[in-house]
Amino acid sequence: MRTNRNADIIPQVDGLAYGGDYNPEQWDRDTWDEDLRLMHEAGVNLVSVNIFAWAGINPAPDVWDFTRLDAVMDHLHSGGIRADLATATASPPPWFSQRHPETLPVDAEGHRLHYGARAEYCPNAPAYQAAVVEMASRLAERYADHPALAMWHVGNEYYRSCYCDASATAFQTWLQDRHGDLDGLNHAWGTTFWSQTYTDWTQVLPPRQCAETPAPGLILDWRRFCSDALLKLFRSEAQAIEQHSPDKPITTNLMVSGDFAVLDYHRWGPHVTGPNRLVATDHYLIPDGPIPWPAQVAFGADASRGLAGGDPWLLMEQASNSSAWRRGYFAKKPGDQLRHSLSYVARGSEGAMFFQWRASRYGAERYHSAMLPHGGTDSRVWREITAFGAQLKRIAEVKGSAVESRAAILLDFESVWASDTPGQPSADMGAYPELRRWHSALWHRGVTADLVDPSWDLDRYAYVFAPSLYLLDDDAHLRAYVEQGGTLVVGPYSGVVDRNDHVHPGLPGALRDLIGVRVEEFVPVPKGDKVALDDGTEGQTWTEVAHALDAEVVASFADYPGTAAVFRRSLGRGEVWYLSTRPVDLDPLFERIGLAPDFPGVPTGLELVRRKHEDGRSYVFAINHTDDPHPVPATGTDLLTGTAWTPDRDLDPGEAAVISER
Ligand code: GAL
Repeated sequence: MRTNRNADIIPQVDGLAYGGDYNPEQWDRDTWDEDLRLMHEAGVNLVSVNIFAWAGINPAPDVWDFTRLDAVMDHLHSGGIRADLATATASPPPWFSQRHPETLPVDAEGHRLHYGARAEYCPNAPAYQAAVVEMASRLAERYADHPALAMWHVGNEYYRSCYCDASATAFQTWLQDRHGDLDGLNHAWGTTFWSQTYTDWTQVLPPRQCAETPAPGLILDWRRFCSDALLKLFRSEAQAIEQHSPDKPITTNLMVSGDFAVLDYHRWGPHVTGPNRLVATDHYLIPDGPIPWPAQVAFGADASRGLAGGDPWLLMEQASNSSAWRRGYFAKKPGDQLRHSLSYVARGSEGAMFFQWRASRYGAERYHSAMLPHGGTDSRVWREITAFGAQLKRIAEVKGSAVESRAAILLDFESVWASDTPGQPSADMGAYPELRRWHSALWHRGVTADLVDPSWDLDRYAYVFAPSLYLLDDDAHLRAYVEQGGTLVVGPYSGVVDRNDHVHPGLPGALRDLIGVRVEEFVPVPKGDKVALDDGTEGQTWTEVAHALDAEVVASFADYPGTAAVFRRSLGRGEVWYLSTRPVDLDPLFERIGLAPDFPGVPTGLELVRRKHEDGRSYVFAINHTDDPHPVPATGTDLLTGTAWTPDRDLDPGEAAVISER
């Protein structure tokens, strides 16, 4: 966490940001007028424009036409709406792809994709790289001083990778930087295995479809490279913008929310935080599955806040109702949208934005929900949208305040990737689902946790959880945290491999000394089965034949005498816990380590989060996701209703309060 907070991340927007993707190119001028009127009615103050508008600005080679975008920007300005102006580079038009066929992405089987949709580009294609810089530069030059401009939005949801020959060449160069020479590469990838030793850099290929599994080190380096290649693209556009527009924030809509671990967001961190940068994320909830929506919302928000290093951040996209691309159509329940939006703000977002402002009449996402649905203004969604716009105005003073959290979950993207490589002892030990499960358990317990990179400053946290930290070079940083008084809890199958995905000698390698535990062997548990512990709890998915070297055994496997499941070790002023199985229920563990809810005595589902200004003003956000009224332990004024709040006052089911504390 940085000590110099960047409290005002979007100074050009008055109060908290509210709005969505706005695509006026799909509508006639009369509709533009209606849009402004309705944006005012809803309390919208910021819209993202030009995200997919390349074809209009640059309709043919060397032809530039800004007429429509000028009109859009002027129109927004006339209505006092600010623009999050996008660089339009995420969706090259057909003429570009036809003229530069080598910019179309190639998949792992070697098929070049056809154009006809968005994100049809190879990040490593020189023609595409040059085109995006030119586009960003022209836009920045033209609109740097436009009064509607609030911030810049580079690309859209970076995720594309490509296996073409140009990508192979770029990969080779990247590998030379990382490993120095071929000896370094051969060592890192363990190429003596299956006789895959490289004798020339040109032999090195992306992990294209092979007869069997390529080296895990290759797969891991490829994912690192793909993330870096996209970061390079983002930075090239950001630098082009900065040359003309040095004083406006620059962002891109990341997908920090949990199910797209395509980028190493923590490597991106320094480039999306700090002066004139801001972390923005998109978040679309998973309609079914084990984690309830409010806990999913919290995960996306807490991961974004972790990435922002404690600074505020912005929810750039969410759905007001159904996300058409998510396994079919579904509808949010009445009030969900308000509760979700408020929860993002409670957790540090400086507003709530949507995809999109007005539902499209055509195109692949014509059935995607919007702030203004196909059903028009006489609709539940619209009523909720206008209600939330009014709420945001009432709580505008929270802008710039920071979220209080005593706990952190370590989210290491390299561990996520490495634990997903083929050839694992269990297909169910992927890191991400387990991180989500722990986060959800903390949410149910009423503990707000930041999701942070293991290498970051952890001293501000009383509790640090490492549910699944498969890849780790050494324990120095975590050891220092424990010695200085922290409580660290490590889940199984952690510290097993180094940065090259080589298994550390003496399991669990990098963590053995710190946790004081020796692991003899891994014993995966079939899906759905459970193993009993002698303290009455249960484990699942995984067990280890583990022995204490220098740790106290807190619980053992009931049916396997001599093998322990829960270990505790005091070290310096702190303590470290190790689990050699994945607990079915995490609450007994939280009890054992003395982790109290942030607001003691509050029932599960009454979400309470505190935001605080540096000058001491503080706010309790309370959202009641339960079916019963519950008192909220805070004293002050509820900004949503303007009424006094005392700890004996009940919050009704489904309702929310934002209490400015006295
Ligand atoms: C996002 C994307 C938007 C829109 C939205 C629909 O991933 O950035 O352009 O497609 O999904 O849910």
